[in-house]
Amino acid sequence: MKIGVFDSGAGGLSVVKSLLAHNFFDEVIYYGDTARVPYGPKDKNTIIRYSLEALEFFNNFDIDLLITACNTVSAYALSEMNAQSNYPVFGVIDSGVMALENRQLNKEDAILIIATRATITSKRYEDALEKLGYFNITALQTGLFVPLVEEGIFEGEILDATMRHYFLPIEQPKAIILGCTHFPLIANSIQNYFDNSPLLIHSGEAIVEYLEARYDLTVKNKKTELKIFASDNVVGLRKIAKMWLNN
Ligand code: DGL
Repeated sequence: MKIGVFDSGAGGLSVVKSLLAHNFFDEVIYYGDTARVPYGPKDKNTIIRYSLEALEFFNNFDIDLLITACNTVSAYALSEMNAQSNYPVFGVIDSGVMALENRQLNKEDAILIIATRATITSKRYEDALEKLGYFNITALQTGLFVPLVEEGIFEGEILDATMRHYFLPIEQPKAIILGCTHFPLIANSIQNYFDNSPLLIHSGEAIVEYLEARYDLTVKNKKTELKIFASDNVVGLRKIAKMWLNN
């Protein structure tokens, strides 16, 4: 199976990391729209337009399915993308919700969703969780984490101050949905902030679980081949991939 992974920039590499770790696919084609990242502060129509343009990129490859690693794209553009492609397009929100549901929390447990402005405004996570009966949900826009991660800041003073800024007023969560591709890179710092107790839902692990439930996936003998493309500075993106993925 040859699959595509689309993200607004470098963050989706955190999803690629999970895909590579499981080695279910022959080839992963990654496309980051680095020329236009971030998508999180943009409006719905722009996010849909950019996402449909990304589909044109994948027309050059004969992929079997596409994962939109970007939560922001998953929140707004999934049905439009599916309507315009002849392969299935999976987002990371349904899979994240499924992963949380599989952890069998109590319905009254405090769940924290952290994501970009666009994802939080869409209420996609909240609505899906409420439908499942969860009612103690806090949804926080934490867009400042995105540039910190882009700058390679995964721990330390600036991140600590940013976490205090966002998290000081909220209740200790039982589970945190890392609703943005960048956040797995600061997962350890977030866990530390909350005394290492919350359960973290990571888009990459969640989408692997989701695909395993839908496809007959077997571990390949040969390492998954990764090809990285970008709308700007592909050399820079490949460097980040080398660092993040040890690939
Ligand atoms: N990739 C985006 C997401 O997962 C975060 C970065 C952005 O704002 O584009 O929502």
